[in-house]
Amino acid sequence: MSDVRKVAVLVGSLRKGSLNLKLAHVLKELAPPELDLHLVTIGDLPLYDSDLEDAAPAAWTTFRQAVRACDAVLFVTPEYNRSVPGALKNALDVGSRPYGHSVWSGKPGAVISASPGAIGGFGANHHLRQSLVFLDVPAMQQPEAYISGADKLFDDHGHLVNEGTKKFLHGFMESFGHWVARNIRV
Ligand SMILES: Cc1cc2nc3c(=O)[nH]c(=O)nc-3n(C[C@H](O)[C@H](O)[C@H](O)COP(=O)(O)O)c2cc1C
Repeated sequence: MSDVRKVAVLVGSLRKGSLNLKLAHVLKELAPPELDLHLVTIGDLPLYDSDLEDAAPAAWTTFRQAVRACDAVLFVTPEYNRSVPGALKNALDVGSRPYGHSVWSGKPGAVISASPGAIGGFGANHHLRQSLVFLDVPAMQQPEAYISGADKLFDDHGHLVNEGTKKFLHGFMESFGHWVARNIRV
């Protein structure tokens, strides 16, 4: 049996009723046994300001430690104005500094975007990938995951009601398991 890998899950929405948060919970259930998903929250991170590094905010330190403790990263995000929500971009920035001490470097990653809209957060998904190139996060290329009509996918208890989407997400997580195993740096 292969090793179990810890995966940091970052959700780009801060709201309690977030569709992307529901999706993240579903992904945890669908993940293969070799992936152990942990939600790492980003809502309490002060906006990145290098002047604060001398006495870094506790929330930054906790966040950096939480990501550093994981082997891989999974981003589950909505699209805001055709791009990455500010809270998620801030989390990327916080994790990337101090210079030379990025928590992201070399961790295999994957991106899922979800929206009630028809194009499933494509813009956010690809803007995020642009940052991941610089951050040295090898991001899984296939399958791509732009989850459209996300407001129709869950029942009142957050359970996925669409069998086709469930099958797709199951396959996505299986592929991510293989991606992590192939790209992890030891
Ligand atoms: C500031 C803002 C900008 C948005 N821009 C987009 C957008 O560019 N594309 C899109 O599909 N949906 C957009 N939406 C709608 C979101 O997809 C929708 O609110 C979604 O439910 C947010 O994800 P969440 O449920 O995980 O919070 C926007 C919502 C907000 C609040």
